[in-house]
Amino acid sequence: MVIAMLRFAGLLMMTAIPASASAQDIADKLELCMSCHGEKGIPSTQGVPLIAGRPAEDLAHQLQLFRDGGRNNPQMVMAKRLTDQEIEKLASYFATQSRVRP
Ligand code: HEC
Repeated sequence: MVIAMLRFAGLLMMTAIPASASAQDIADKLELCMSCHGEKGIPSTQGVPLIAGRPAEDLAHQLQLFRDGGRNNPQMVMAKRLTDQEIEKLASYFATQSRVRP
């Protein structure tokens, strides 16, 4: 588990998320998303939707709905603390993952 996260952190630095003051913040949040939605957006838990490879605008819109109360689910409460910029980055990470199960 820890190793998977470290490997992921390395991957993050090389790809989607540009280096910035908030990169660590995003990585922490992303880890939480992954704990339910799977490392690459393909969940292994029943009831958690597959979010890999969906258009970034769609994912971002759903996250805004969870944040602003248009959609509510106790498991998605952490969305309430996301900024627009964080939503954009998280959405683009999952949007660029493959929908195909390895
Ligand atoms: C505790 C588990 C959990 C965590 C953590 C979590 N999610 Fe979710 N997520 C869910 C569940 C369950 C749903 C389905 C909710 C519903 O349909 O009411 C969902 C729904 C979604 C949806 C909408 C998908 C759809 O098909 O409409 C998106 C997008 C999403 N999550 C992204 C994220 C992101 C990004 C994070 C991290 C910031 C995150 N989630 C964190 C469990 C989680």
